[in-house]
Amino acid sequence: MSNKQKVIGTGLSGLVGSRIVDLLKDKYEFIDFSLDSGVNVLDKESLSAAFETYKDAVAVLHMAAFTDTNVAWEQRGDKSGICYQLNVEGTRNILKLAQKYNQYFIYISTDFVFDGAQTTPYAETDQPHPIEWYGETKYLGEKVITDSGYNAAIVRITYPYRANFDKKPDIIHKVLTKLQNGEVVKMFSDQICTYTFIDDIAASLDKFFENKYTGIYHLVGSSSHSPYEMAKIVAKTFGYDENLVQSSSLEDYIKSQPEGSRPWQKTLITSNQKVKDLGIELKTLEEGLNEIKNQM
Ligand SMILES: NC(=O)c1ccc[n+]([C@@H]2O[C@H](COP(=O)([O-])OP(=O)(O)OC[C@H]3O[C@@H](n4cnc5c(N)ncnc54)[C@H](OP(=O)(O)O)[C@@H]3O)[C@@H](O)[C@H]2O)c1
Repeated sequence: MSNKQKVIGTGLSGLVGSRIVDLLKDKYEFIDFSLDSGVNVLDKESLSAAFETYKDAVAVLHMAAFTDTNVAWEQRGDKSGICYQLNVEGTRNILKLAQKYNQYFIYISTDFVFDGAQTTPYAETDQPHPIEWYGETKYLGEKVITDSGYNAAIVRITYPYRANFDKKPDIIHKVLTKLQNGEVVKMFSDQICTYTFIDDIAASLDKFFENKYTGIYHLVGSSSHSPYEMAKIVAKTFGYDENLVQSSSLEDYIKSQPEGSRPWQKTLITSNQKVKDLGIELKTLEEGLNEIKNQM
């Protein structure tokens, strides 16, 4: 019998979740709550039975989400749509049961809760103002937690990347594939994003499980870049022709879209000062890319 602490997890098969399991599985026994393991977070009965079985779990890591932002936009305003159901109602169902069994709760959220209109770094104290449906449903998921008054952690992550994951390429791998094929990579130079190395997220969450931090935290990389600048750094790090990376404009792209198209956040510089003050360090983009290059 394992003497590892049990952690219930949703979304463990995803881009972020599967790497967290890889890196922390020697320390924690992750209990996978997914459709594959027969647990539907939208089916209160099956969820309740699963929680009863694992009531000795010490924590719940809730990562399952509807993450396709473009498809989410097509569902905007639709509370019966899967995006709202999973991101808001699924979160409500899981939280209720974690509360019942007094389990430490971590909800993984996103910088898309912000509108991207602020040009200074977003801190945890800044008021969210989502502008598209995915961000709005993730924010409503956050509100389920804050309104409940439960001592949980809301952990916002941004543009996660890792060395290997074939199922869903992250933004770094989308750029790498084009560079490998010798294709031109056109990227916005008038947008800013914060890219986060998933291995750092995993190491940091270990500290969250240990210390049971509560409140809102930005678990994000230590540098922010335009996608154009990011692609240049990718080309340089991996030894590809930097001239393949060309600049394009988000402003122009938005203007070219038909009316009613999804809005885009322009400037998402997210500060990790709060976790830094806890002694949690996350890599810059250059540092993270060098690490994934070593791992690949
Ligand atoms: N990727 C990003 O750019 C990004 C950025 C910021 C924040 N986040 C947040 O980080 C978390 C993880 O994102 P990710 O990119 O790793 O997600 P992902 O790769 O899209 O995976 C989504 C996960 O949710 C599960 N899921 C989807 N529909 C489900 C359902 N109806 N019932 C139960 N589980 C379901 C999936 O399970 P199956 O494999 O069984 O479908 C999968 O494990 C999410 O909360 C997301 O909002 C992601």
